[in-house]
Amino acid sequence: MSEQVRGRFITVEGTEGVGKSTNIAFMRTLLEAANIPHIVSREPGGTPLAEEIRNLLVVPREESMCELSELLLVFAARAQHLKTLIEPALAKGVWVLCDRFTDATYAYQGGGRGLSADTIDQLQNLVQGSLRPDCTLLLDAPVDIGMARAGARGALDRFEQEKLTFFDNVRDAYLRRVAQEPDRFAVVDARADLSVVQRNIAQVLKSQIELYQGGQHG
Ligand code: TMP
Repeated sequence: MSEQVRGRFITVEGTEGVGKSTNIAFMRTLLEAANIPHIVSREPGGTPLAEEIRNLLVVPREESMCELSELLLVFAARAQHLKTLIEPALAKGVWVLCDRFTDATYAYQGGGRGLSADTIDQLQNLVQGSLRPDCTLLLDAPVDIGMARAGARGALDRFEQEKLTFFDNVRDAYLRRVAQEPDRFAVVDARADLSVVQRNIAQVLKSQIELYQGGQHG
């Protein structure tokens, strides 16, 4: 019997309001059309316990959360998500399409809050071992455009309440991640018309599907 080909782990990143949800729904239709077994999840969250941790992170409260608590909660949620959902799915050949993952930690807790990349590296290694996304789609747009869209959605969460400079730092940190690992990232300009954005996304996904099918038949 041939060995099960692992599912591909695809993550989607970006600052607030860049269109992650719309485009993840689009990616899902492409995977369905290609008959690729997949699940869609998100971080922080993805399991009942991890969703409770998400609430702790995003709901605004009187007491301010210190940077290290925030970082540890993000990784606590991630450990649970990996162990109970992501790793079993990938091992069964199921693709995981995840709305944010550890690049968001480098961007928000690193770039935004100012925690060192070394600290994040250590937790990444502890929690994930060698697991990294196979491909990360970064939807990139100037921060003011996305913030206007996020604001139009209603009450702002604890992160969305941050100032523009926080998100400029988040975006810069994402772009530094891309410069460090250009092969893993696909950057799509989220300012373009939706049809153009989705044409670009479809191309990214097509090459991932080809890699996977090559593995199945190889
Ligand atoms: P959302 O925009 O996908 O709803 O994510 C909720 C917030 O969580 C978002 O503002 C970014 C933040 N976040 C972090 O700060 N660090 C992380 O590692 C992740 C995954 C999300």
